[in-house]
Amino acid sequence: MNSTTLKRGKLPFSALPGPMEGVMGPLFCRAAERLNMTDLWMTPFLRVTTGSVRKGKIRKFLLPFSQANKPVILQIMGTDPHKMVETANRAKELGVAGINFNLACPSMQVLKGGCGAALLQNHDFIKDLLRESIELGKEISISLKIRAGLNAPTEIAKIAESIMVTPPHFIVMHFRTAAEGYKKVSGRNERIKKAVKLFNDLPLIANGDIASYSEAEQVTTETGCAAVMAARGWLKNPNLMRDIAEKKDSTAEKQQSTLAHLIHYMSIDIPDDKLKSSKNAILDMMRYAIGCNHPLFRYVLDIHPNHLQTKLSIETIRHYLR
Ligand SMILES: Cc1cc2nc3c(=O)[nH]c(=O)nc-3n(C[C@H](O)[C@H](O)[C@H](O)COP(=O)(O)O)c2cc1C
Repeated sequence: MNSTTLKRGKLPFSALPGPMEGVMGPLFCRAAERLNMTDLWMTPFLRVTTGSVRKGKIRKFLLPFSQANKPVILQIMGTDPHKMVETANRAKELGVAGINFNLACPSMQVLKGGCGAALLQNHDFIKDLLRESIELGKEISISLKIRAGLNAPTEIAKIAESIMVTPPHFIVMHFRTAAEGYKKVSGRNERIKKAVKLFNDLPLIANGDIASYSEAEQVTTETGCAAVMAARGWLKNPNLMRDIAEKKDSTAEKQQSTLAHLIHYMSIDIPDDKLKSSKNAILDMMRYAIGCNHPLFRYVLDIHPNHLQTKLSIETIRHYLR
């Protein structure tokens, strides 16, 4: 694994794919690498529960992301700063480029456990976590993924205050509050702009509803954010990271072609004992890329797992995407 450190100050990337638990499995990562869809990865969350996570388990967790020798940022979620940083130190020994702590997950189950976005109101936790990370931050990047608040966007001022006691390398902010989940919310750029000001010199990566280079450019210009993160938008337009790096919008045909290849590559070379779970992995990805009502989604739903490879040729997928 490449151990390139993401240095403090100007970010060495303008866009970052958003972590997606349940989507970013081995099949997706392998297909995305075949298409060179990104220059770096941020993993979905690794849970730190009763104790710090063993090295073998971290290595296994990182495997899908470390195939192409690109920088990998491991995301960690938990409630105990000491165990989280102990896990982060083990990941560093395995060569990760950075650690991202998840204070953003809005799932009810996660919030009930006091994890994810629930921690946005636990200012002692935020300060302890960042203080515990100081030594590690001299070697690899430390970042937080946050939402604008747990219940109200006004919470961001106090959150920023706690974070700025011991600033990490960068912040990723999804503009919605956890309570807003994934609802349609207006005022994204205003919220991001306000956070950019509060975080002062600390690079802020803007996240939420970005699906094209033009939109990324508009968000960056209007808010002064340092970079953007896209999750669902990247699945809808798998060229997105390339488009942003190359500062252009790719054509609808090109986007469709890359998506067709992504789905096709996920359907090939699957071991016999993984056919059923692989079909589910393809459907999970397609749910966000094209939606469950799309004719291609329904077509895949009806395919017997044994026939995935033969029934998902590029031509067939293109036919349904047209
Ligand atoms: C299926 C799915 C899984 C996700 N898993 C994670 C995760 O593991 N860690 C995380 O920080 N965010 C996770 N997210 C949130 C995204 O990274 C991102 O912040 C959110 O979807 C908003 O960005 P978007 O509008 O570009 O999708 C997930 C989102 C989706 C749709």
